[in-house]
Amino acid sequence: MSATEIECEPQTAIAAAPDLTPPFPEENPGIAIGPLQIPTRYFLAPLAGYTHLAFRQVVRERGGLGLATTDLVQAVHLVHKHRKSIELIATNDVDKPLSVQIYGAKHHEMVPAAQMLEAKGYSAIDINMGCPMAKIVGTGGGARLMCDTDNALQLIGSIVSSVKIPVTVKMRLGWDRDNITAPVLAREFEKIGVAAITIHGRTRAQGFSGKADLTGIKAVVEAVENIPVVGNGDVRTVEQAFHMRRFTGCDAVAIGRGAMLDPWLYYRIDRANRGLTDPWEPPVDEQLSFLRRHFYLMIDQHGEERSCVEFRKFGMWYGARLGIPEDLEKRFQNFWSIEEFEKNLAELRVRHGTRTSPIPTADIKVPNGPISHW
Ligand SMILES: Cc1cc2nc3c(=O)[nH]c(=O)nc-3n(C[C@H](O)[C@H](O)[C@H](O)COP(=O)(O)O)c2cc1C
Repeated sequence: MSATEIECEPQTAIAAAPDLTPPFPEENPGIAIGPLQIPTRYFLAPLAGYTHLAFRQVVRERGGLGLATTDLVQAVHLVHKHRKSIELIATNDVDKPLSVQIYGAKHHEMVPAAQMLEAKGYSAIDINMGCPMAKIVGTGGGARLMCDTDNALQLIGSIVSSVKIPVTVKMRLGWDRDNITAPVLAREFEKIGVAAITIHGRTRAQGFSGKADLTGIKAVVEAVENIPVVGNGDVRTVEQAFHMRRFTGCDAVAIGRGAMLDPWLYYRIDRANRGLTDPWEPPVDEQLSFLRRHFYLMIDQHGEERSCVEFRKFGMWYGARLGIPEDLEKRFQNFWSIEEFEKNLAELRVRHGTRTSPIPTADIKVPNGPISHW
């Protein structure tokens, strides 16, 4: 996959006094997806390579996060118990409710994968119908399923009837702007028993360019009769999360990159929902504890060497958000041991907030260029 760095909306660009009024103050703060009760309406969208167990857990520990979903897992690999797939679905008692996202296009792979996940006690199964990457679409899965309605309905119908836990679908608005199929598909999915739809407000052709289209999300909300619709795309702040719900009428919001840029976002939403609208920032001690906790949870799962390497990409995300001085951020992106990590952290405690360049953006790697080459 070729990747480039795009600029995300700067956290600092938010108006001085953002409107943090909850969208529907009288509503139940939680939500049901089929029989599954979820404590909040603000979910974690899957980001392959980032939304692993340690990240989910450390965010959950601060509160406010409802449903989390694993990175996408290829159904056939799950069925054959490939090591990487088993790692991707690793979870624990704190990491609940958790949905596992699977992809593929063949009944004999997707149905047994779903049954296996149900037997293992996961809360829900999410079917990926949104991934635009050629290697996923090439399996007939991901966004490709949006072009093959009959097969998609048959496939998802078989999965729904083979398990009791909720089966949800995550999709884009359509293949391209001339083929906006999500509203019709959402309604058809509802008829065959899909329990909720997550809709990313971009087409497959858009990749990650442009802005998420809230009108497109609203059309999906209006197309279904009863099932919850989860809006997704470009939410980075409490205000944007509330705006998405207010504008589209969606029942819940899934946040991906915004959660990496600001892991306290769910907690901020929770505060605003409780009427606390003062500007709140995590104290320095809490920021440091967060970094340490995330890193050590990774070590629990993967050991020291691998965790050092894998934590580096988080150094970049957190560096900008936490105001880590530039040279220190670079060291968080290139360290080899727990000892080095602790040394960096001790230095950060002293030098926190002394970053000299502004912190307007955090660079987030997303696939770029012709989608067929991803
Ligand atoms: C690095 C990266 C990895 C992603 N991995 C997945 C994935 O595994 N499954 C999926 O359905 N969507 C995936 N997405 C899409 C996101 O879940 C989400 O739909 C998209 O980023 C828009 O939401 P956001 O602006 O809140 O990030 C990924 C996006 C990025 C940037």
